[in-house]
Amino acid sequence: MHADIDHIVLTEEQITARVAELGAEISRDYNQEPVLLIAVLRGAALFVADLARAIESPVEIDFMAVSSYGSSTQSSGVVRIIKDLEELIEGRHVLVVEDILDTGLTLKYLLKNLASRKPASLEVVSLLNKKGKQRVPISCKYVGFDIPDEFVVGYGLDYAERYRNLPYIGVLRPEVYSG
Ligand code: PRP
Repeated sequence: MHADIDHIVLTEEQITARVAELGAEISRDYNQEPVLLIAVLRGAALFVADLARAIESPVEIDFMAVSSYGSSTQSSGVVRIIKDLEELIEGRHVLVVEDILDTGLTLKYLLKNLASRKPASLEVVSLLNKKGKQRVPISCKYVGFDIPDEFVVGYGLDYAERYRNLPYIGVLRPEVYSG
């Protein structure tokens, strides 16, 4: 385990197994209909790479970047598009891929924006869900894990851009923030 990690919340094995289950569920639901995965940078980059390989339906991948947190650990509620899609999504089945659903502010903005582009369907898969933390109601069809309200890093999630490459998800030692 990395020296800055206090404890592991989800092991690499747990993540791998759940991503395979999510992929199977998504494959069943889309039933060979092409699906466009829209990953929200940067955190979801690792998740979408694994999830895409677990889906048997024809898959395309595009990316959006929005700002929400900056480099602090609190949601600012300010959301803006930093990078927009390359693809047109009108008439297509869109599945937004997030690493974590916290306040829901990012997704609320994103879903409203994407819905206005008239996709055939628009759903969300989030690897992690901080249950009870949502400040706005979000319909997230696929959730990997419900987790407690702790600041987690790893498997795409960062603190000040570090720790995204950890293969597991864990909680940082408090002294990492204060130091
Ligand atoms: C995280 C995550 C979501 C958002 C969720 O991104 O990937 O996009 O926060 O928080 P919310 O539900 O409170 O809106 P972050 O802004 O940390 O960017 P990153 O993925 O580039 O690390």
